[in-house]
Order: sequence, then C-alpha cells, then structure tokens
Amino acid sequence: MQNIGTQIRRGLTSIFSSRASRKQAGRAQDPAGTMETYRNPTEVQMSQLVLLCHTNHRGELSVGQLLKWIDITACLSAERHAGCSCVTASVDDIYFEHTIRTGQVVNIKAKVNRAFNSSMEVGIQVTSEDLCTETQWSVCKALATFVAQRDSSKVKLKQILPLTEEEKVEYSVAAERRRMRLVYTETIRDLLTKSIIQDDLESRDCSRMVPAEKTRVESVELVLPPHANHQGNTFGGQIMAWMENVATIAASRLCPAHPTLKTIEMFQFRGPSKVGDRLVLKAIVNNAFKNSMEVGVCVEAYRPEMESSPRHLNSAFMTFVVLDGDDQPITLPWIQPQGKEGERRYREASARKKMRLDRKYIVSCKQTEVPLSVPWDPSNQVYLSYNNVSSLKMLMARDAWVLTSEINKIKLYTLEDDKFLSFHMEMTVHTDTTQAFLLLSDLGRRPEWDKHYQRVELVQQVDEDDAIYHVISPVLGGAESKPQDFVILASRRKPCDGGHSPGLGPRESGSWESAQVAPVDVSPAGHWREPYVIALRSVTLPTYPEMPEYTRGENLCSGFCLWREGDQQTKVSYYNQATTSFLNYVTTNVAGLSSEFITTCKACEQFLLDNKSELALSLQNL
Ligand code: COA
Ligand code: ADP
Repeated sequence: MQNIGTQIRRGLTSIFSSRASRKQAGRAQDPAGTMETYRNPTEVQMSQLVLLCHTNHRGELSVGQLLKWIDITACLSAERHAGCSCVTASVDDIYFEHTIRTGQVVNIKAKVNRAFNSSMEVGIQVTSEDLCTETQWSVCKALATFVAQRDSSKVKLKQILPLTEEEKVEYSVAAERRRMRLVYTETIRDLLTKSIIQDDLESRDCSRMVPAEKTRVESVELVLPPHANHQGNTFGGQIMAWMENVATIAASRLCPAHPTLKTIEMFQFRGPSKVGDRLVLKAIVNNAFKNSMEVGVCVEAYRPEMESSPRHLNSAFMTFVVLDGDDQPITLPWIQPQGKEGERRYREASARKKMRLDRKYIVSCKQTEVPLSVPWDPSNQVYLSYNNVSSLKMLMARDAWVLTSEINKIKLYTLEDDKFLSFHMEMTVHTDTTQAFLLLSDLGRRPEWDKHYQRVELVQQVDEDDAIYHVISPVLGGAESKPQDFVILASRRKPCDGGHSPGLGPRESGSWESAQVAPVDVSPAGHWREPYVIALRSVTLPTYPEMPEYTRGENLCSGFCLWREGDQQTKVSYYNQATTSFLNYVTTNVAGLSSEFITTCKACEQFLLDNKSELALSLQNL
C-alpha cells in the first residue's frame, strides 16, 4: 500500500477533490502527532556546514554565500512547482537577525506560497544550528519571486492549494505583497521626490568627515558556466553575492574595519544575464548615520562584441554596522558626499532609512505587535494599506473559528486567542457581489444601516482603493458616557481575478467545529474562491487630534470579506478583532444577551437589497 506521506508529496497537485484535501489538512493539524507529518509538496531543504572558505575575516559566514544558497534553494522549490526552469525576478527586504560562524550548520527551507500567472512567491526560512550546544536560532526570513520560463515563452502556472493555516495565511497575504512589490520602484521614487530631508551638511566640520570618494569601488566579473544554470542564465544569487562583495569593500573603506551586513533592500532583476556577460559592479557609501551606513550598489552588463550601451541589471541598498569586541555597533565617522549626485544620494539614503524602518515595523512585524493606531503619513501609506488588508486576510484564514450561534440564517463565529476575542458574522444576500462590494466599501453610506456609525466624514481619498474617514459612534452603554470617534483607514481589494478562480474560500459550517480538520473549501471545479476584501483599521492624523467631546476609539482590524456564490448571490462576512473598549459589547452579543449583532446584519442585508441596482453604471468600470 502506498505510504500516506508519499501520496501527499506526489499527488497533491492532482488531488483537487475537497474531501481529499480535508483529509490531508487534517494530517497537517494532527495535534497528537500520531500521523505522519505533513510536508508541503513544493518544500525544498538545504543544509550546509559552514567552512572556512565560506567565511569573512571575522569568522562569520559571508552573506554573499548565504544569498547564493538561499537563491538556489528557492529556485529549486519554484521549479518543483513549475516543472520548468525559473529565474529570480526579485527578493524582498531581508533583515539579518544573527550571524553564523564557522563549524555551524545553516538550514534553509523554501516553499511556494502562491503561484500567480507565470510568477510565484517563494517563502524562505534560514536557521542556524550549533552542533556542539545543540541550539538553533533564526537567521532571517526572505521572500523571493521567481518567473517560470519555457523556451523563452510565457508559462501559465498551476495553482497552489494551501492546506495548513500557515499556508493559507501566506497564500492569502501573498497577493497583497505582490501588489506592493510591483509598485515598489514607483513608490520609492515618488516618496523620494516628496520627502523633505533636513540635513546639516553645510554646518558640519569637514575635517572630521570621510570623503565619499574614498569608499568608491568598481569591480568587473565575467559570467562563466559555473555561475549559471543549464540554460546559461546567470543565477540571481551569484549576482547578489557579487553585489554584497563590492558593498562590503565600500563599507570597510569608511572605517577601516570588517563591517557586518544588517539589512538588504529589495533586489529587482530588471533583465536577464547570460554566460559570457561582463558585469560591472559599482558601490559607494551613500550616507553614514550614527551606528549604521547605507551602501548603494549598481550592476551593469555588457558584451564586448556588441556596440550597444551597458544593460542595467540591478541596483540595491545595503545597511552595514561595524561591531566592536563586545558585538556592539561603534559610532561611525560622518561621510562627505561629493558633487550634486553624491548629495542627492546622501539625502535619498536618509529618506530610505525612514521608509525602511516603516516597512520593517508595519509590514514585517506580527499583527499583535503593531501599535493600535499608527500615524498616517505619505511615506508609510503604502505599508499601512498593506498592513490593513493583510491583517484582515490573516484573521480570516485562522483555523480556530468556532460557530457560536445561528439565528435567521446569520451565523456568528468567534475566535479566542491570547490577546484578542474576535468574531465574524456571515450571511448570504441576494445581490451581485461587486455591487455589495461598492456599497459596503463606501463608509459614507454606513450610517444608512449601522447605528454604530452615527456620522461619517471622508477625510482623504488616498487613492482609488484607500480612503480615510472620521467616524462618530454613539455611546454603546456601560461605563462610557461620551460618544466615541475613530479615524479609520478603509482599504478595499478585488480578488486577483474576479473571485472565480483559486483563492481562499469561506468555510462551510459543517467542517467548522471539527477541530482536527482545517476547513478547506473548494468549488465544484476544484477551485477556491478568493474574497473581495474591505479592510478597516485605525490610524492617527495630525489634522484629527483627540477632542474633549469624544473618547478616541481604536479599531485594530475589522472589515468585510465577500464571496460570489452565484449570479445574484453573495456571501457577506463581517470580521472584527475586538479591542478592550469594545469588548463588553461583543461579549454581551456573543453570550446571546443582546441581539444587536443580528439586527445590524439584517439592516445591512436590507441596505444591500434596497440598493441593488443603484450602482449599475459604476459596476461597468470595475
Ligand atoms: N518583482 C516580482 N515580480 C515581478 C517583477 C518584480 N520586480 N517584475 C515582473 N514580475 C512578474 C510579473 O508580475 C509577472 O507575473 P505574472 O505572470 O504572474 O503576472 C511576471 O513577472 C512577468 O512579467 P512581465 O511584465 O510579463 O515580464 P517582464 O518583461 O517585466 O519580465 C522578468 C520580468 C523577471 C522575467 C524580467 O525582468 C527578467 O528577465 N529579469 C531577469 C531575471 C533573471 O535572469 N534573474 C536572474 C539574475 S539576472
Ligand atoms: P541612484 O543613483 O538613484 O541611487 P542607481 O541605480 O544609479 O540609483 O545606483 C544605485 C547605487 O549604486 C547608488 O546609490 C550608488 O550608491 C551606487 N552607484 C551608482 N553609480 C555608481 C558609481 N559610478 N560608482 C560607485 N557607486 C555607484
């Protein structure tokens, strides 16, 4: 008889029956660990013993070598899914938490989080292991995008079917990350032109500054067969390693010591490189802050037999620190930029530092670690919008939702974890899904059906899909004597392809209470339906400070997910992660002591039915 684990590995892509999927997900959830551990079919692992030849002068694994291993592992995972060769399109920001020393083992795990059309997001986890002390720690996480190519023509990838809760979260949020990635260059360019940087370049004591010119590096590499795959394409990891090499030399020249690389900003491979290319890598320290410096690197390719101008392959920005004997960062000398270009890069490095910090703390940190209300400003709006949508998608993808009650075909689910009590209400409404999406995403209309939204003012239409509102909410009872006000960011997203194709589907009530089984729902065609999402979270705005007549309320994560159930049938789910100010109201409803949740849902349904055809014109543009 065929071994169960082998079945999962071999057959997952062809097993699109929901029954089979549920069984497998059940194994993934097996709490007693009695069954064979589930393994993602795209997962690839690499373990390497760090030898002297892999390390720098501090006896630490060179990041360039690590990037090569990461790229190969991730590429093999992408190719396992695609069934053809793949190239690295980009690698998102990487934050290195630890260095790795000679004699330790590096473990790299990669798996495809989601396939889009011809591209895939691959998630990579790097841990390090000390064989003597038997300890393990996390080194970094990375996300890379690979594009499948077969004979230079476009490839349509098969979809990923996520089974475990973690896979479902990654799958769902990958769409939002892709959206952010594809506008990354324009976002940064836009933010750089808008940012006003106050610098003290004029007043600084030049005699104590290191001229930036001193740190300039130029180096050439010839791409040989060992640097490329079997089709002659240069490995992305090899190029990243060469970039890290020149950046490290530039950083060492600022203060004669061995620098340590802390972060790498998004690598984007703009065009392919082949065996025989000459790559020219240039690096310089753009700016030095108190304890860290930004080094910029650019790579161009040329071929001597061709007259054309060099091709720009990649530019990246890396942050280095210099550590003392106690591993503490030392104070760095100031840098003196030269010429107009140098001064521009100096200022842009300061702006990038702020954006990097925003990205790190808004995009990468866990939902529960994000401050309740994050200050809204143009430099972090892209990340806050990302955070808003991905938080709701993560909440939706949780496995531990429990059906608490069902009244008048409205289901109430709750989810309890360490920090929050969350709930979601679910009903089916006889209306078109895009219609419902448009109506519910306009918070200005919410007072028409939700008495908790007494007054709503549109503060700022940020872009087509994001808007900030000021909401006045009446006294909810209890000890509160003043009405509340909220400053809410509303971000709406359509599914990647109109909600018909693979996505995260809503859960059927039948499988909810079965704690052993991850609820996985697929359409009869074996496809998951991705929801329309309207995410809401609090932000703070200097123009809307707290006012004496209101208690400032905070909303960490709430919103709607809508699924197309048929031509004129929409499943509407409202999610809310209850904050303490709201808790009493929620628990009263969950315990069945109040029916306000149900009344509000019914009012919402009536609102959607009453306005069924009103937006027909706008729908044509969606
Ligand atoms: N980050 C993530 N994905 C990207 C991307 C980026 N910076 N640029 C393009 N893509 C994705 C697109 O979203 C699209 O995905 P989809 O098919 O799933 O919708 C896919 O790449 C193809 O995009 P398209 O616009 O048709 O192609 P392109 O002309 O922009 O080419 C590359 C994209 C990546 C194929 C091209 O830039 C390239 O060949 N780069 C070099 C790759 C390489 O050789 N890397 C190794 C080191 S040089
Ligand atoms: P930008 O100049 O806008 O930063 P580029 O893609 O031209 O963008 O370059 C990226 C980085 O590469 C620069 O910030 C700089 O640090 C480095 N760089 C570019 N050109 C050179 C060069 N001629 N010499 C040394 N470093 C360079």
